[in-house]
Amino acid sequence: MAAAVTTAKVTGIHHWNDKLFSFTTEREPGFRFESGHFVMVGLKVNGKPLLRAYSIASPNYAEELEFFSIKVENGPLTSRLQHIEEGDEVLISMKPVGTLVLCDVRPGRNLYLFATGTGLAPFLSIIRDPFAYEQFEKVVLVHCVRRVCDLAYHDFLTKELPDDEYLGELIREQFLYYPTVTREPYEHSGRITTLIESGKLESDLGLPQLDPAKDRAMICGSIPFLKDMTALLDARGFEASPNQGEAGDYVIERAFVG
Ligand code: A2P
Repeated sequence: MAAAVTTAKVTGIHHWNDKLFSFTTEREPGFRFESGHFVMVGLKVNGKPLLRAYSIASPNYAEELEFFSIKVENGPLTSRLQHIEEGDEVLISMKPVGTLVLCDVRPGRNLYLFATGTGLAPFLSIIRDPFAYEQFEKVVLVHCVRRVCDLAYHDFLTKELPDDEYLGELIREQFLYYPTVTREPYEHSGRITTLIESGKLESDLGLPQLDPAKDRAMICGSIPFLKDMTALLDARGFEASPNQGEAGDYVIERAFVG
């Protein structure tokens, strides 16, 4: 049976570039979710609900819900959703779900959050969950995109978050952000898989090499990226969480496409 769907008013929209945008909506007081969860979000099209999975990018204690989306020219949903304006209404399913949850990752030393493209979204919630900093010494967000302008949230992550009234201290001491770009020159370049294989990621960060006995990972991105990342981690002896509710050394979720 389909989960109940509610309507929520759009409170803000931000267009990052021709391919990416974010929007916020009102949040019903009773709406609860775990950092990393996703919901179905959409619009009524020709009188029928058209919904796609969207990770919630806002922290689970925030008053509003935030989503980070691609714009697909002929995408049934995003070709329309990209034109929403403040005050419009979107549809949101009432049942948040998903596998990218901290409780399915074994405790350890450093937690790596590996994202490509809009796979960043669930990690924007997780990095603002104080539980992540209780469980791990360092929380390392690695975001890989094609173009520099695809590094959405870069200024938020580097400038605003370290100054956050409540989280600032945790962020300054325990959070590391590593943006990498593959199709334009940038300070860090190359795919995440390549950066791990060469050991460059850890050496750039000043951290010990990835160790399955100590380090943990959460992965979100395109299907080819998930496939290559899981193969890489499996070959190094990391154990995937076998099922929801059963902890592993890493958890994965595909970044959803609208
Ligand atoms: P690349 O530019 O070398 O393809 P996309 O927009 O296709 O989802 O890609 C987002 C980012 O993820 C790009 O920087 C892309 O690198 C990278 N990427 C795509 N596929 C893989 C993969 N199989 N393994 C590692 N990184 C990948």
